[in-house]
Amino acid sequence: MKGIKLLKSRRAIREFKEKEVEKDKLEKIVETARYAPTANNVQPWQFVVVTEDDKIEKLEEYIDQDKEFPACIAVFSEDVNHHLEDGSNVSTYIMLAANELGLGTCWIGSYTEGKPHASKVKELLGVPEEYKLISIITVGYPDENPQPDKKELDEVIHWETF
Ligand SMILES: Cc1cc2nc3c(=O)[nH]c(=O)nc-3n(C[C@H](O)[C@H](O)[C@H](O)COP(=O)(O)O)c2cc1C
Repeated sequence: MKGIKLLKSRRAIREFKEKEVEKDKLEKIVETARYAPTANNVQPWQFVVVTEDDKIEKLEEYIDQDKEFPACIAVFSEDVNHHLEDGSNVSTYIMLAANELGLGTCWIGSYTEGKPHASKVKELLGVPEEYKLISIITVGYPDENPQPDKKELDEVIHWETF
């Protein structure tokens, strides 16, 4: 898919087919996402790719959003300056790379420190406590085609002054 079409066609997918996601595709997603920009090129991230049923079931329970998904990529960051921006950039790259491979994704908001699931997720996945959980990106073959409203260009663009 060409770049602009790829960007515009990504949608948050919450209904997935009961089809396993191939490990080579998950690896390709992370392999691509690591090219995302970071402040001072620190690349403070680590990714945990999860496909095992028992772990997925626990994550579904911790996230507590009545969601089912066949795989996910949890994005963690060292506690550096700009970890939220860096982690958000790479989370978006993950979603776009997945889109290119015909996979759907949904970002599960996980950064807020108050989110009760963050420390449980770290414990389940063996992640050192000092890492920040930035996002959990669910991944699977789409079983829906949502078309959420987007603001029109003339509602958001300004030339030279606001
Ligand atoms: C920071 C962030 C947190 C999000 N958290 C959730 C979430 O917890 N659960 C969920 O179903 N979708 C979540 N989403 C997905 C958004 O709801 C979705 O991107 C938005 O409705 C626009 O739809 P689109 O992605 O198809 O354009 C999140 C997206 C972002 C960027």
